[in-house]
Amino acid sequence: MDCLSSTVLFIFIGWPIILPVLFFVGYWSLKNKPTSKKYVERFFHNFHIGGHRGSPMMEPENTIASMIQAKKEGADLIEFDVSLTKDGVAVILHDDTLDRTTNLTGPIRDFFYKDLGTVDCAANFKKERGSTTVLPLPTLEELVKWAKEHNMKMLFDIKDADECFLSKLVKLFDEHDLYDSSIVCSFFPIIVYKVKRLNPRILTGYTWRRWFITYIDHEGRKPRFNGYKHYIASIVDTLNVWSIKSWLPSFLGVEMVLTERSEISSMFVHQQRHHGREVCAWTVNDINEMVWMRKTLEIPVLTDMPFLVNQINPVPPGQGF
Ligand SMILES: *[C@@H]1O[C@H](CO)[C@@H](O)[C@H](O)[C@H]1NC(C)=O
Repeated sequence: MDCLSSTVLFIFIGWPIILPVLFFVGYWSLKNKPTSKKYVERFFHNFHIGGHRGSPMMEPENTIASMIQAKKEGADLIEFDVSLTKDGVAVILHDDTLDRTTNLTGPIRDFFYKDLGTVDCAANFKKERGSTTVLPLPTLEELVKWAKEHNMKMLFDIKDADECFLSKLVKLFDEHDLYDSSIVCSFFPIIVYKVKRLNPRILTGYTWRRWFITYIDHEGRKPRFNGYKHYIASIVDTLNVWSIKSWLPSFLGVEMVLTERSEISSMFVHQQRHHGREVCAWTVNDINEMVWMRKTLEIPVLTDMPFLVNQINPVPPGQGF
């Protein structure tokens, strides 16, 4: 038998062994390593309540005023969303467009940073409340400086990232020494994977909810795609949930899974802890649910209502303000 036909024969009968071996070798050679326990503990030991975009019931979301408010209410961490302008400036904005939260319209990616000088992030918030404050759009840099000065932990939710931004982000961690106080999270596994590759000391988290790819909304009423694409999306979502519970977080090297509140169970938390990972729940606005998560499961939570923390840990009479 010549060399070619024996190779063909080997592949033909050997694939049940070759394929798993290839997968296994690929998995282990591409797998990220999580950050050392020492650094992870420094971040998590006093992270209990995170203000989701600040304190968005009291002050306009993702503004410095909202972060100040969250701190005042007792949050120990602020969560915020990072988007990019046309010229690649990282700013704090949740949506792809400016429409919902500001007095400008259109995608943030269409604006140069210099054209956002007069944008008002309180515009739509105050309309309902008759306030006249004007709040600027914060840059990531400004917010990081504020948080460092005020000893607040940070959870970066990265919506949009190119290579250039990721390298800037890594530099930001270095310049401001954010390793003990910050974690980078994203719905996009590739983003957290790359951040960990660029600097293994940066803590990362994978954000997820069921049916994220299939539906835009939480209730499952607005499909993202039509026709057959909708069914493909739901298969991908199903695989994603399975992956999160089996191999994906280990592969990405994340220290935390930022999990939508309805997916939280004692079993899920134990499974993740067994693998040395923390679980953080978003977005918890119900006091009973918060008490269960904080007291029984002992996991940190993100909330729109950081002020609820006072109901979990009531100030003993005679103390406090
Ligand atoms: C948005 O509001 C600010 C502050 O009131 C104002 O200076 C600016 O001109 C407004 N921009 C638009 C496009 O309305």
